[in-house]
Amino acid sequence: MSSTSVTVDPAEPIDPIERRAKEAYRRAERRAAEYLEELIASVRGKTYAAALTEDFRMWKKKHVRPWPARLLRGGGSPDNRDYDRYLHWMETAGKLDDYLERSVSYLYMRDLGRALNDPDTQRRVRHTAAGLKRSLLSGGDPQEGMPTDGFDTAALYRWGQQEGIEDAVIWMIAKMKRVSENIPEGLSAEHAQRKLLKIIAGVVLHTREEMDERTPKAERSRRLDEAVRLGYSYGLTYPFVDDLLDSTLLTDEEKERYSDLIRGALLSGAVPKWDEWNHAFESDGGRNLDLIRYIHSELGEAFLYIKSRQADGLGSLFFEQAYVFFEAQDTDRRKVLAHDGYDSRQLYVPVILKSSGSRLIARSVGQEGEDGGFERRTFFYGIYNQLADDFADLFDDLEAGAVTPYTYYWKHRGQRPDLQSPFEMYWGVIAYLIRDVYDGDAYTREVLLDRAINGLKRARQRLGIPRYEELMNVLAAGMPELNAVIQNMVRRAEDVEFFDKLLRDRMLTEMKRDREDRERFRTLLSEVRAEIDASLPIPSDSNVPHVGDSLIDAANYSLAGSGKRLRPVLAHLVATEGYGLEAAKLRPLLKSLEYLHTASLIFDDLPSQDDADTRRGRQTLHTRYDGATAELSGLLLIQQGVREQSRLQGFKAETVLELMHYSAHKAEELCMGQALDLKSRGRKLTLERLNEICFYKTGVAFEACLIMPAMLANAPQDQLKLLEKFAYHAGIAFQIRDDLLDAEGEALLLGKPAGQDAANGSSTFVTVLGLGGAKRAMWDHYCDAADAVRELPESLRFLKHLLDYLVQRER
Ligand code: IPE
Ligand code: IPE
Ligand code: MG
Ligand code: MG
Ligand code: MG
Repeated sequence: MSSTSVTVDPAEPIDPIERRAKEAYRRAERRAAEYLEELIASVRGKTYAAALTEDFRMWKKKHVRPWPARLLRGGGSPDNRDYDRYLHWMETAGKLDDYLERSVSYLYMRDLGRALNDPDTQRRVRHTAAGLKRSLLSGGDPQEGMPTDGFDTAALYRWGQQEGIEDAVIWMIAKMKRVSENIPEGLSAEHAQRKLLKIIAGVVLHTREEMDERTPKAERSRRLDEAVRLGYSYGLTYPFVDDLLDSTLLTDEEKERYSDLIRGALLSGAVPKWDEWNHAFESDGGRNLDLIRYIHSELGEAFLYIKSRQADGLGSLFFEQAYVFFEAQDTDRRKVLAHDGYDSRQLYVPVILKSSGSRLIARSVGQEGEDGGFERRTFFYGIYNQLADDFADLFDDLEAGAVTPYTYYWKHRGQRPDLQSPFEMYWGVIAYLIRDVYDGDAYTREVLLDRAINGLKRARQRLGIPRYEELMNVLAAGMPELNAVIQNMVRRAEDVEFFDKLLRDRMLTEMKRDREDRERFRTLLSEVRAEIDASLPIPSDSNVPHVGDSLIDAANYSLAGSGKRLRPVLAHLVATEGYGLEAAKLRPLLKSLEYLHTASLIFDDLPSQDDADTRRGRQTLHTRYDGATAELSGLLLIQQGVREQSRLQGFKAETVLELMHYSAHKAEELCMGQALDLKSRGRKLTLERLNEICFYKTGVAFEACLIMPAMLANAPQDQLKLLEKFAYHAGIAFQIRDDLLDAEGEALLLGKPAGQDAANGSSTFVTVLGLGGAKRAMWDHYCDAADAVRELPESLRFLKHLLDYLVQRER
């Protein structure tokens, strides 16, 4: 193990924080080296193999049914990729409790560093497993812990509500969005998001586990709120330190400078000033300057937050551990696969340090103090996990040229008979953990062996039997007897599944689908918008020369600005995606919706109403022309809207009449909503009243966009009801976002004035509930709207993406 990066030059005066951190690294390195010595000795002496053979003999009683029973009962279980069916099958077969307990136990051991033979841990495991079972069998909610499937914002928010930490969740959602916007091409935004969520969930879990029923509610909320923010702050280092340094985005020179910066921050406990090192990123035309500026500010903020939250105010333990973690990763990263001279220390010590480091930090970031063996267990445990992962990733890592104990062995084993097989090391670690770390506890043995056999079963399935066997022949060459036992178990053992693995499989499939949906939705949005834009201008067929033409010009002026065209886009998608109607036949409906909406904006901006000077990035109609022109153009647009509706062809006449009747009624309601809105100025409204006003002035128009196409498609009543429910909540959420943008947004981006509501003394969600209250109300409506989407047919799934867009938009 080279320690050049941490050598202390005795001539250089060194600050106490720096000295402590460097000492901590050397201490950790020594300890890892001792651990490694023990592992190697047990692998060389084969003592681990005898121990494990005995372990398997006991283990298999629970996992291998005698032949006659297997033949009689046949295969039985459904494919575990069909997750819901599989769960119910397990419940019927009486296997579910075991499965959940083993899964939860494993997480307690891995993520929380718990000892499974501790009665308190056992109680908690049972409690958590029982909660998990209830929520699984009831179809998902309510959430036991923080949900980690990145695409379900509603579940995340609901969990936040349950814990009384809505503000932290809202904060986190906004942060995550900024992160994914700032992830440079070449790094996966989705991966970053998933990783961040996992880290946050980990810190939250630690905090949750420190509390129990006796913790007062307010205290619990305060600590969980802090855990979310700390988790995010620490989690940021994964995409922006680790992944970035692993990628090829930065030049070598830039990486060097960037590593120095991070190291400098960890060693000094202070964020280096931007001006002092931004020049390092100005070469190459400053290609990465914006990225690094963002990272500097975001990571800097995170750093200070963590520091401010540490018990000693200096964050010593956290920074020490973070430094060890960073340094170990950095050392590991610098290894080159082609280099043929690494010894086992160089190969394994950084791996031991980095794999335990991330879990040690996840705890220390939240709290310090007495840990009841957590530190020790976690230190020894990390490499077990790392070797399991590296085994699964062997071929990917080889392709990427990454050095892991597996890739290195794979490449150099021919010339380097001294190298230990990492597979033997892996089993050596398992034997060590069972006996030396967990004191031979039977249930720990059970869980660790379940997990190990499951990992091999999965590899066998993934690689196919011939390739798997070939791999085993290489990796297990030095342990033939033990390997025979293991492979026998891989073929025959049952009940070794883990919840997190199955969940991960399902999540990956769902996230992929979600991403494809989202991308498709974005493409559709811009395509449909362009089509609508092109169809909107009203042709001049006026028989009132001059005046008629100029009124049409004025109406076209209002139409032509930077409108988002949300209403016609929505109607288009419901009609075509949702109900398979032909796009061309809908054109008149789409135009009518945008005409009616634009008319409502012209009136809304008049001095008698909101008195606004700009709209859609240009002057309002009454300021550009005059009040009368604005009023008359508005009326003209309404009539154009009616005219278009009467042009709908290819539908039953009664249906079109019914649609027009409905449309007129909704327009009346909108007028009433506007009147209510104006009348409420300067008054303190109740939440109920606010919702009502917003629904009428904004929500009904959304409802119309959903219901009118559904009417044309003769959609069934229950779907209309759900669409109305969706529209109600999505419409109000949309208006709240509008109120928030009025309060916080920028006029230039909005294309209309900001701060207008306050100037007018309007009663909006923001003026009544404050910024925080308005955000909470918006997300609450978001969740209700998301519930409606879940009940609607698959073809209307895009509404979820529309909803995301409505509440996250910046204009
Ligand atoms: C503005 O609607 C009026 C509200 C109901 C808040 P939009 O925000 O959809 O305005 P345009 O059509 O994009 O200009
Ligand atoms: C207006 O709400 C709703 C309608 C025009 C129907 P706002 O008055 O908040 O809309 P903006 O902010 O002016 O677009
Ligand atoms: Mg208004
Ligand atoms: Mg207005
Ligand atoms: Mg507004």
